[in-house]
This record gives sequence, C-alpha cells and structure tokens, in this order.
Amino acid sequence: MKQITKDNREWFQEWANEYDNTLGKVRRHHKLLDLVVKESVVKGNDHVLDIGCGTGLLSLKFLDKADCSVTAIDTSAQMLGIFREKIEKCKMNEKIHCIQMSAEDMGFEPGQFDIIAATVALHHVKCKEPVIRNIYKSLKDGGRFVLGEMDIDTTGKLDDPQRLVRILQYLIREYELAMKDGGVQAFERMYDNGKKHILNDGEYCIAMGQWAKLCRDAGFRNTEVSPVKGFEWFKVLVATK
Ligand SMILES: C[S@@+](CC[C@H](N)C(=O)[O-])C[C@H]1O[C@@H](n2cnc3c(N)ncnc32)[C@H](O)[C@@H]1O
Repeated sequence: MKQITKDNREWFQEWANEYDNTLGKVRRHHKLLDLVVKESVVKGNDHVLDIGCGTGLLSLKFLDKADCSVTAIDTSAQMLGIFREKIEKCKMNEKIHCIQMSAEDMGFEPGQFDIIAATVALHHVKCKEPVIRNIYKSLKDGGRFVLGEMDIDTTGKLDDPQRLVRILQYLIREYELAMKDGGVQAFERMYDNGKKHILNDGEYCIAMGQWAKLCRDAGFRNTEVSPVKGFEWFKVLVATK
C-alpha cells in the first residue's frame, strides 16, 4: 500500500497519473459529475469556474453539454498537466483556461462567473467558510454554485469509535464500487484514501446540510440538495445567488 503523507499536494501529484484509471473508472463518480452538470442548467456563453478540476473530467462534461467557457483551477501541477494534454488533443484551448491556484487563494473579479462548480474537491479545504464567501462574491447575481460531494460528517475526535464506524460504513460502499468498476488499482487507491478520511489527513468532510448552511450564511438565497440516484451517500447542492 502507498505511503500516506501529510502533504496533500504531494498526494495528488502522485495520484494524478492514475486518476482516470481509478476514480475516473468508477461509474458512481460519473453519475455525480453528470448530475452536477444537469443541475447547473448550463447554457451557451455561460462562464463556468471549476474548482479543483483535477484531470478535467467535470470541465469536459460542461463543454459537452453547452457552448460555454471554463476557467479551471487546481493546486496540483500534475493534474493540470494531464488536463492540458486533453485540452490540446481535443483542440479546446479557446474554451478552457487552466490556472494553478488553490481554492483558498482565489482572487477573481466580483460577479465574474455564471456557474461555479466543484466536485469532490472542496472537502479538502479545512477552513471552508471564507472559500464559500469568496465563491458567493465571484458569482453574478442569479448565478449558481453547484457542489458535488459525499454527504458524510467526519468531524469529531479521531479516537471516537462511533465516528470510526460511521466513516467505515461510508468507505465499505465506496471500496465495493471501486473494486467492481476499476479493479484492484482503483480499490488500492480508494483504500489508501480511506485512511486519510479516518485520520482527517487532508480529508475534511462535512454533511450536505452543513454545506447548505455555510451557503445560506454566505448570503445565497436558495439552496437545494439532490441525491445521486442509486448512490445516495453522494449529493449535489445548488445554491443560487
Ligand atoms: C478527488 S480530485 C477531484 C477532481 C475533479 N473535480 C473530479 O471530480 O474528478 C480533488 C482535486 O482537488 C484538488 N485540490 C485539493 N485541494 C485543493 C485546494 N485547496 N484548492 C484547489 N484544488 C484542490 C486536487 O489537486 C485534486 O485534483
């Protein structure tokens, strides 16, 4: 099994080369991304921000759906490198702009985006409140923040056995899916990732209701949550400015 490091950026650098062959193979992940795109109601000419874009799986689905433009940010140079190769290959350079930037350091103009989306990325941010406030600021009036995340609260004391059982119940379903859809390679990656959830080592999940509250506190006027059909422990939140 791979070594768990304390440096999250290093972890993603190392994962990047096999991302599309591991999580990228899991059907549940694609169902989540598809629901995010559907719920965003993206249309032609929309400017979309994809936070924690990874290898670009979500951004490319947005561009499949509508003639929009995408700004995609991620902290990992390796993830962005793989995404840039895809962009070159499908000649999308004019439609996608990739920037190496962290969610915590976003400095976009107020009201710049129609849609801001993030899938399984923002739970890596420990201090979420300022990031959600910044997302609110960067959206146009009427714009939508669309979040695809696991609906699990992993906060609490690391030595609390009930917390451990709660996380293991989530992980067991994910391990089964990883093995089914991506084989041993995907399972191994998700298995290693599980330890990070248990130890709060770069994985700081909160329940979807807690995300919705953060959005309302930041000023969003409406929040709606939809479960991913068949995989209800993943949900999509739409918060409208
Ligand atoms: C599990 S991947 C998700 C990638 C993509 N959104 C998807 O759904 O396939 C998480 C991504 O978030 C990025 N990430 C982690 N912490 C971040 C942060 N603070 N700011 C921006 N990106 C971050 C990682 O580098 C990684 O590419």
